Amino acid sequence: MDHFSYQNNRLFAEQRALTDIATEFGTPCYVYSRATIERHYKAFASAAAQHPSSLVCYAVKANSNLAILNLLAKLGSGFDIVSGGELRRVIAAGGDAKKVVFSGVAKTEDEMRFALGLGIKCFNVESIAELDRLQHVASKLNMPAAVSIRVNPDIDAKTHPYISTGLKANKFGIDILLARDIYRKAASYSHLNVVGVDCHIGSQLTETQPFLEALEKLLTLIDQLASDGIVLKHIDIGGGLGVTYDKETPPSPADYISKVVERLKSYPQLELIMEPGRAIMANAGVLLTKVEFLKPGQEKNFAIVDAAMNDLIRPALYSAWQAIVPVDINATAPAAIYDIVGPVCETGDFLGKDRELAIAQGDLLAVRSAGAYGFTMSSNYNSRPRAAEILVDGGNVHLIRAREQWQDLWRGEQIVTD
Ligand code: LLP
Repeated sequence: MDHFSYQNNRLFAEQRALTDIATEFGTPCYVYSRATIERHYKAFASAAAQHPSSLVCYAVKANSNLAILNLLAKLGSGFDIVSGGELRRVIAAGGDAKKVVFSGVAKTEDEMRFALGLGIKCFNVESIAELDRLQHVASKLNMPAAVSIRVNPDIDAKTHPYISTGLKANKFGIDILLARDIYRKAASYSHLNVVGVDCHIGSQLTETQPFLEALEKLLTLIDQLASDGIVLKHIDIGGGLGVTYDKETPPSPADYISKVVERLKSYPQLELIMEPGRAIMANAGVLLTKVEFLKPGQEKNFAIVDAAMNDLIRPALYSAWQAIVPVDINATAPAAIYDIVGPVCETGDFLGKDRELAIAQGDLLAVRSAGAYGFTMSSNYNSRPRAAEILVDGGNVHLIRAREQWQDLWRGEQIVTD
């Protein structure tokens, strides 16, 4: 459920008409709904609260705007980060470092030092080499590092190959069959404090089964480790819960997390951590764009809009399907089938293909489900300033990131004079 809906043929975000927002801030722009974000966060947090101890660590990569991180921090959220940049964002947004877990396959010494200094909750370690590096950094600082090992359970998440992460063929995590030995090694290091286990098998999963299979494998490992005298404090089940872009029917956060909580009944001592990104943000945002031209053709009709693959790359990169709807219903324009394309000079620059729309030049369109992996994956390709971001809260509208200015395009660049 989200808070975008039509009222008298006009699309609203909460109590604000999207047309008015486009008039005020221009297009393209991202618009997020605070009530939707909070609703989704609470769905995870309250289902997890049925377990004695739990923490939602929102995956910052999905949408890292400071205002979004700040409102999640105010709800008590922790954060899953993958870079020093994301950690700095969390801190700048008022997040609590003690609720941060640090994922990613290539943490640098600098990033480790910075995160250790802030006292983060845990490093999700993905290789033996990383374990060695963390021990080295932690011993130099003489500060113990809390460690979880990200295991790769070799489970098919049945999602797009680019966002599947839990198979042996993927670069992520440590083969679960080798994990027991590696835990023993980690436990022997002077400055590592082994506290948990984690996995993340992929993104946009629409079934519970692969998650539960992974959970089973993690619990088996936890039991084996306990018999080796290594008693873990937490289990981190990663992110990955899918959303409805089109006709997918993923389990709700409450359904999914309740099943996990049920299975963890015999492990009351384990803190349950989860790292949702998309399920919190995707359907809490839209990308607003204006139709610049309609270009009819013999094979295809094109609606050329002012947003492009640099603003939203998911359709081009993963052939992702996202709903594209008129902002105000146009009662006079004839319906036709369009490819919705942007101004970028690439055939892959499309937001949607073969969509039936009744639109005219100048109309506004909303690309739905754009709150996650939208702005964060945007770029300046074709020297296009990145879009504005706006947060709607009931009847209030806040500009939470200004549209980039022309000078931003070449900031840091230098002409060579000789
Ligand atoms: N934890 C880890 C370690 C991850 O790698 C990810 C996402 C998450 C949590 C959050 O997963 P989520 O709940 O959002 O599925 N750009 C792609 C998605 C890439 C996801 C990468 N990792 C897309 O637009 O579909």
